[in-house]
Amino acid sequence: MTQDSTEAIYDANAGSWARRERVLLSDFTARPFVIEELGPLAGAHVLDLGCGEGYVARLVAEAGAASVFGVDVSSEMVQNARKAIPVGSPCAMVFEAGDASVFTTFPRERFDRVMAVFLFNYLTRAQMTAVMRAARERLAPGGHFVFTVPHPCFPYMRPASAPFFFDTEGKSYFAGVDTTYEGKIWRRDGEGVPVRCVHKTFADYFTALAEAGFTALPKLVELKVTEEHVAFDRPFFEPLYGYPLHVLFRVEAPR
Ligand SMILES: C[S@@+](CC[C@H](N)C(=O)[O-])C[C@H]1O[C@@H](n2cnc3c(N)ncnc32)[C@H](O)[C@@H]1O
Repeated sequence: MTQDSTEAIYDANAGSWARRERVLLSDFTARPFVIEELGPLAGAHVLDLGCGEGYVARLVAEAGAASVFGVDVSSEMVQNARKAIPVGSPCAMVFEAGDASVFTTFPRERFDRVMAVFLFNYLTRAQMTAVMRAARERLAPGGHFVFTVPHPCFPYMRPASAPFFFDTEGKSYFAGVDTTYEGKIWRRDGEGVPVRCVHKTFADYFTALAEAGFTALPKLVELKVTEEHVAFDRPFFEPLYGYPLHVLFRVEAPR
C-alpha cells in the first residue's frame, strides 16, 4: 500500500490542528515545557522548523520574542499560520512553505533559538541529521536548540487506542528504525487526528546531534501525564498515566 505524503496528510487535516488554546493532548503534555525550555524569550529571534499552523510560534511571540520565522512542508498549515498572526503583535512573524530538511532561504544568518516541535518524527535519520546541521549552523553563539519527539519506547508500550498511539505493525525497536508508524493523537473534544512516527532509537538522536556538530551534552526531559493533568480531566489523561509520552531535548550552541 502506498503511503500518503506527510504534506498530503497535513494539508487534509489542517483544520483539526488550527487552535487558539490548548486542545491536543500534546498541547498539555509537551508544548508548555517547550516554551519553558526556550526561555528567556524577550527580544529573541526564533526559528521554528516544522511550525505547523503556528501554535507554538504564537506562544513564543506572547513570551516577548522579537521575531519568529517558521517553515512547514504543508502549505495549508502555513496558510493557517499566516491567518492566525495576532493583529498588532510586536513580534515579526513570517511563515513559509518548504521542506525543512533541504531549506536554505532563511531570512537571517543567525537565530537566538531554534525549535523543532514534533518535526523529527516525520523524517528519516539522514533527514533529521540534515535539519540538525542547519539548526547548528543557524544558531547564534549563546543560543539553544529545543526539540520534542515521541518517546522512542512509547509505540511499543501502548495498544492502538485513545488518546495517543503509534502502530508498530510488529516491527521491533531495532528493526523498525526509519520505518513509518502511523498513529493518532486525540483532541480533548474527542477527535482523533492522524500523526506518524518515523521510528528512531534513543541513541539515534545523540548520534545525529554529534554528527550535526553539537558538542555539549543535551538536557533531556521525558514528558508524561502529570497528576495535575489527571485532576484537570481524568477520563482524557488517565489512560496514559505512567507512560513515557515524549522526549524534549535542549542543546546549547557549540562554543
Ligand atoms: C505534529 S505537527 C507539529 C506542528 C507544530 N510544530 C506544533 O507543535 O504545533 C508536525 C508538523 O511537521 C510538518 N512537517 C513534516 N515534515 C516536514 C518537513 N520535511 N519539513 C517541514 N515541515 C514538515 C508537518 O507538515 C506538520 O505541520
